[in-house]
Amino acid sequence: MNNKQWILSKRPVNKLSSNNFDWVESEVEVIKDGEFLVKNLFLSFDPAQYDWMQETESYVEPVKIGEVMRAVSVAQVIESNHDKFKKGDILQGSFGWQEYAVSDGKSGYMRPFRIPRDVPITAPLGILGNTGLTAYFGLIKVGKPKQGDVVLVSGAAGSTGSVVGQIAKIMGCRVIGTAGGSEKCKWLTRELGFDAAIDYKSEDLNSALKKHCPNGVNIVFDNVGGEFLSESLLHIAEKARIVLCGAISSVGKAQSSISISNYMSLVIKRAKMEGFISMDFIQDAPPAIDKIKNWINEGKLIYREDIVEGLENAPSTLLRLFSGKNRGKQLLKLADPE
Ligand SMILES: NC(=O)c1ccc[n+]([C@@H]2O[C@H](COP(=O)([O-])OP(=O)(O)OC[C@H]3O[C@@H](n4cnc5c(N)ncnc54)[C@H](OP(=O)(O)O)[C@@H]3O)[C@@H](O)[C@H]2O)c1
Repeated sequence: MNNKQWILSKRPVNKLSSNNFDWVESEVEVIKDGEFLVKNLFLSFDPAQYDWMQETESYVEPVKIGEVMRAVSVAQVIESNHDKFKKGDILQGSFGWQEYAVSDGKSGYMRPFRIPRDVPITAPLGILGNTGLTAYFGLIKVGKPKQGDVVLVSGAAGSTGSVVGQIAKIMGCRVIGTAGGSEKCKWLTRELGFDAAIDYKSEDLNSALKKHCPNGVNIVFDNVGGEFLSESLLHIAEKARIVLCGAISSVGKAQSSISISNYMSLVIKRAKMEGFISMDFIQDAPPAIDKIKNWINEGKLIYREDIVEGLENAPSTLLRLFSGKNRGKQLLKLADPE
């Protein structure tokens, strides 16, 4: 059987492009004792994949040159010599940008596990997986929202940001989001219930924050970094919490060139800035997922998925995240389960 794969061919310098990957076709490996073969169904696309392509220090090992590009996916077992995973099982794991993957069930970035049968097959890659948990843990555990707090979310129309804002509304906060373009801003205020949205591409952030947060911001949930983070510090309230979730605006920049201004606001306002990685709180995932499920069922939480088709489109699908083309959780479909 033939396998199609995307391997990392060059590390991105300043800019990510499709040229960082090579398309390779080869025979599917024969499984040994204790291994199983999966067919990828849906791949997840995450800004962190850019970091995984770098050789700089991170919370995980970088993808090696010549290795299949790392990605979390949902896949179906089609052959098995493994005690735990059987033919037909639908699993989540880090099976990468390829049609088929061989696994021993324990190595790799994410140990494979069976996904629940009572949820849509893509949900564990997004709202009922890392996206939902990042939003939930970052806001609840790090931001510690209180009723009446003013919460400012950057990247607010993205998969994580849109969930953060809605959970903050459920917690009784006033929520302001920043996003690129009027269509995304309208979605935030008209459909997700944000109190205000700022189009960072056409509005002056400083004046907009003065207008929308005259008494200061209690929680900044930052997905973007850079100028957004620096400017938001000028608008924090006493004892504010600045939650550092990610810095997508710094993609392509050397770590040493990423700077932050206005940090003395942290001193003046006795504020706290804290980064987190969602997996730090993994032991609390089951109750968090139950809460998210309930909010969806009660109509309090809306999520959207943006599904591209075809493995050949994997590199261009990753690029969508950095140009803002994605509308919700970015996924790529390879096949339906059998
Ligand atoms: N800490 C953790 O454990 C953890 C886990 C998952 C994700 N994250 C972080 O969460 C953030 C959001 O990730 P996601 O998966 O939910 O992606 P996403 O928000 O669905 O997609 C990325 C969005 O970022 C925005 N963007 C891209 N380039 C930008 C720039 N230069 N300036 C401002 N905005 C830009 C785009 O929206 P616009 O059209 O609005 O620009 C784009 O749609 C990322 O920073 C990611 O690294 C952190």
